[in-house]
Amino acid sequence: MIYLDYNASTPVDPRVTAAMDGADELFANPASVQHLPGQAAAEAVEHARHRVASLVSRPARDVVFTSGASEAATIGLLGAMLADPLRPNVVVTDTEHKAVLAAASLGARLTGGSVRSVRVRGDGTVDVDHLRDLIDSSVSVVAVMAANNETGVLGPKAEVVSTAAHENGALHFSDLTQLVGKADVKSDCGDIDIMVLSSHKIYGPKGGGALIASRHVQKVLTPVVGGGGQEHGLRGGTHNTQGIIGLGVAAELASEETANDRIRITALKDRLLTGILEQVDDVTVNSKTAECLSNTLNLHFAGADAESVMAVVPEVAMSAGSACQSAVPTPSHVLIAMGLSHQEAAESVRISLGRPTTQAEVDEAVDLIADAVAKVRRISARTGH
Ligand SMILES: Cc1ncc(COP(=O)(O)O)c(C=O)c1O
Repeated sequence: MIYLDYNASTPVDPRVTAAMDGADELFANPASVQHLPGQAAAEAVEHARHRVASLVSRPARDVVFTSGASEAATIGLLGAMLADPLRPNVVVTDTEHKAVLAAASLGARLTGGSVRSVRVRGDGTVDVDHLRDLIDSSVSVVAVMAANNETGVLGPKAEVVSTAAHENGALHFSDLTQLVGKADVKSDCGDIDIMVLSSHKIYGPKGGGALIASRHVQKVLTPVVGGGGQEHGLRGGTHNTQGIIGLGVAAELASEETANDRIRITALKDRLLTGILEQVDDVTVNSKTAECLSNTLNLHFAGADAESVMAVVPEVAMSAGSACQSAVPTPSHVLIAMGLSHQEAAESVRISLGRPTTQAEVDEAVDLIADAVAKVRRISARTGH
């Protein structure tokens, strides 16, 4: 099996597994700090908090552990909207992850406001002029993702969005889920008010993530998962100690290894694209020439239905649309927002490389995908669909 679906999820790095296995004895509740076992578990959680904070150059107190980016986005975005009833509206880009879109529309329903959608251009980049036009004093939050999970297209410079939001008294929310571990996040996240990330996208265990916001912003948020008051009252519920330890190690590895991973993976991605373009006609890169993540390719194979291509090459794990949506047979909202037709979206495949990807895998995948596309095109030419 050649796994090329790292944007959907990554395998747990063996170094992360080792750290988590070593945490078996830390079973006490980290909130039970009256006894030594509880204190040991709490210390492990705090150590992980420092590691996650350092990935984004923030103090440890800014990190709120959650069950993933979806929950973090709900706590952050919804919590900020509910906190500011005089600003009932929210601005989001059209191509945000469904977790962000869902939190924004729930927020608008509860505040009686509306979701203002920012257009993207044909290459998936955000129309920053439109973004600025949509922000006014009735907007509580401006959500612009750092990198798109389906196309890899990078968001505008965070500073540009922060400035536009702050000039109007709004908060800047950014989904960093796909950027962390693939690019340097430290240099460009300085003024973002609320960031979210996910453990299973950076070789950590599933069911973990974080919201990162200053204590000042945390205090402003209306708690939507209050529970027993853990995580500064923003995410109640007993800590997933092992998962948090795993996320901490994954974050540290991302801090140390992203720069090298990125160089290697960029070269592999270029090789894969060159190979496909050499072997297959009528292929379009959906992000065109936009600046993209080093690992992601979203390709339109004209006349070859993506689900059929994937069925013909079960040896290559890719994605038609994002994994979170694949149970729903609707075309990708991201590709539609970029102006693709329903048919073009259905003929598009996302290929995403990762830390374990090898050159041999890439070369084999090129041949297999090229054969599969040719086969699907032959069949559809014969059957007419
Ligand atoms: C950009 C982006 N945001 C949020 C999420 C949700 O992350 P999680 O699975 O941790 O809830 C994903 C996962 O697909 C994603 O790619």
